[in-house]
Amino acid sequence: MKKHKIAIMGFGTVGGGTYDILTQNRDHIRSTQGVDIEVKYVLDRSAESLEKRGADKSLFCSDVDALAADKEVELVVETMGGVEPAKTFITKMLRAGKSVVTANKELLAKSWSELEPIAKENGCGLFFEASCVGGVPIVRALGESFQGDKVQSIYGIINGTTNYILSKMSAEGVSYSQALAQAQALGFAEANPTSDVEGYDAAYKLSILGSLAFHTSLPYQSIYREGITRVTAADIVNAKRLGYEIKLLAIGKRCGNDIEARVHPVFVEKNHPLASVSGAFNAVYLHGDFVGDLMFYGAGAGAHPTGSAIVSDIVKALCGKPTYCDFDNNGKLDKSVNLVGDFLSGYYICVTVDDKAGVLSRISTILSDNGVSIKAATQVPSDGNAATVVFLTHPSREHSVMRSLESIGKLASVRNIDSVIRVL
Ligand code: NDP
Ligand code: HSE
Repeated sequence: MKKHKIAIMGFGTVGGGTYDILTQNRDHIRSTQGVDIEVKYVLDRSAESLEKRGADKSLFCSDVDALAADKEVELVVETMGGVEPAKTFITKMLRAGKSVVTANKELLAKSWSELEPIAKENGCGLFFEASCVGGVPIVRALGESFQGDKVQSIYGIINGTTNYILSKMSAEGVSYSQALAQAQALGFAEANPTSDVEGYDAAYKLSILGSLAFHTSLPYQSIYREGITRVTAADIVNAKRLGYEIKLLAIGKRCGNDIEARVHPVFVEKNHPLASVSGAFNAVYLHGDFVGDLMFYGAGAGAHPTGSAIVSDIVKALCGKPTYCDFDNNGKLDKSVNLVGDFLSGYYICVTVDDKAGVLSRISTILSDNGVSIKAATQVPSDGNAATVVFLTHPSREHSVMRSLESIGKLASVRNIDSVIRVL
């Protein structure tokens, strides 16, 4: 049986997890898939990272050009992260005819349209199952299934770090900063966790998944994005009291040429399947016009789940022909696409007001003047002569709610608009 030699660039959490699988399950992969995979090089900043993870130090390589020039190496895994030098390194490998398997959603969301043609020109492939939803094979499913369906919507919990933080805050009352520190220690968070908590990571993933699902380029810049940093402990308590969990959702919908693409915190009813996805678990809830509802669920981050997705791409790349996307992947929103900004959603609105007569009625009047219908309103006792009022609205237009909030914020008796969170 032919030995396939590969290299790993970046030997941290995911690179290390990939190595563990390739070494510990080498015989299993050989006997079930008919490919014998040997790691010839590991490129990292220093050989220490190999030592730390129990890998043979002689695999260490620091010269990317030597790696690209080695004809024995058929495929390279990129698990360094970030845009540069990852993009330059991947380009060198593709130009040398080596297929690349990457977990780097940021790079892919920003440069997919540049990298894929280079792979095509050089007869090799660019594989990225691990870039979205960790060990869950959602890229494969979207790319290779549903040929007979129009995927109409995807609702995803696709960032493990934020789901871990929100779950810990909700279930155990852990503070935001403690929960973030735990997610970092467990290896889920990005090198710069701002990408996780401000929703960039989820937007990169939605850009990739949405493009595959809707067969059109969905640039990450066109996705509305809001992170979890403004979600307060009080919002989590209010959500629970009202029968919801707060989740950072990535939402993509297509109806004809109308596409909705957004990432933001959402109140999810407790009986919805997405409400019970907790910790670093991820899920994608998908609706196709003929297949109906499907939910893909599993570990969304971590060394071994992500390594598992990488190994499956390595085997796919070594065994078969590369696949290229089935739409014009020029990185731009197609002219025919109408990006919907004035979407329909329920809203949770929390305001601190003067605790006196007439305040609630003035707020309700503004909402109703803008066509926003109140589903429920509760007053939560607050300090002194202030009151906190929580509203839930019926599905309303985004722009109508934002217009209402602008007017509500100007009322003399309104001290603060504490929170606004959309409701699924
Ligand atoms: P880590 O920081 O744990 O590992 C990255 C490794 O690459 C480190 O050893 C780092 O060295 C090395 N590295 C970075 N830049 C260079 C360079 N210029 N030259 C040589 N070595 C370099 O990151 P992760 O493993 O967590 O993430 C890697 C990629 O996988 C990212 O794109 C991430 O988004 C993605 N991903 C991560 C998941 C996770 O659960 N962690 C899940 C899915 C995808 P040093 O530490 O010295 O910088
Ligand atoms: N930082 C990412 C997350 C890693 O928390 O989901 C997995 O892509």
